[in-house]
Amino acid sequence: MNLTVIDHPLTSHYLTVLRDEATQPEEFRSAARRLTYTLVMEATKQVPLLERPVTTPLETTTGYRMPDMVAIAVLRAGLGLLDAVIDMIPHVKVGFAGVQRDEETIQPIEYYFKTADLSDAHVLILEPMLATGGSLSWAVEKAKENGAGSITALCVVAAPAGVQAMYDRHPDVRVVAASLDRDLNDASYIRPGLGDMGDRLFGTL
Ligand code: URA
Repeated sequence: MNLTVIDHPLTSHYLTVLRDEATQPEEFRSAARRLTYTLVMEATKQVPLLERPVTTPLETTTGYRMPDMVAIAVLRAGLGLLDAVIDMIPHVKVGFAGVQRDEETIQPIEYYFKTADLSDAHVLILEPMLATGGSLSWAVEKAKENGAGSITALCVVAAPAGVQAMYDRHPDVRVVAASLDRDLNDASYIRPGLGDMGDRLFGTL
């Protein structure tokens, strides 16, 4: 697993808006979208382009196009990143992975999974909070069962425990995050973190 933590002023600015407990859902959603643009730029950096000739008003030259891409949003919080991904990669196909954690065992429980065939696609998994790594590992396993080879996870905040879990279980997966935070509390929330991303996006606090 290789981890890239983005070092960019816009990423830091929007992450701070997300962390602030005073930020209300409307501003939270727009900050999540804007921060995601910076994640997508980094996450797609290593995607191999397909060459195609392009004719300018002056002559024909070498051009490029993006390969097939599939984004899988881990519900609910991954929905907060999806608009920006679709904005930047309009041909992206979108899958959904429904998982909730058992609050006692902290284990992921699947309730929904639907995606296109992933065989030749570059897959982006949208899992904003990499806490224990349980949900992301599960989503990666499901993506691999559906044929995925090249997988990059987009995270807003990662915790060392989640990074370690990904390193142990999926060393082939690239993780791009806006921050690597300190640790987890007893309820497996990331510290300093930003709280429950789904609740903050959708106002269900
Ligand atoms: N999920 C969240 O939404 N926040 C955390 O801190 C951990 C998991």
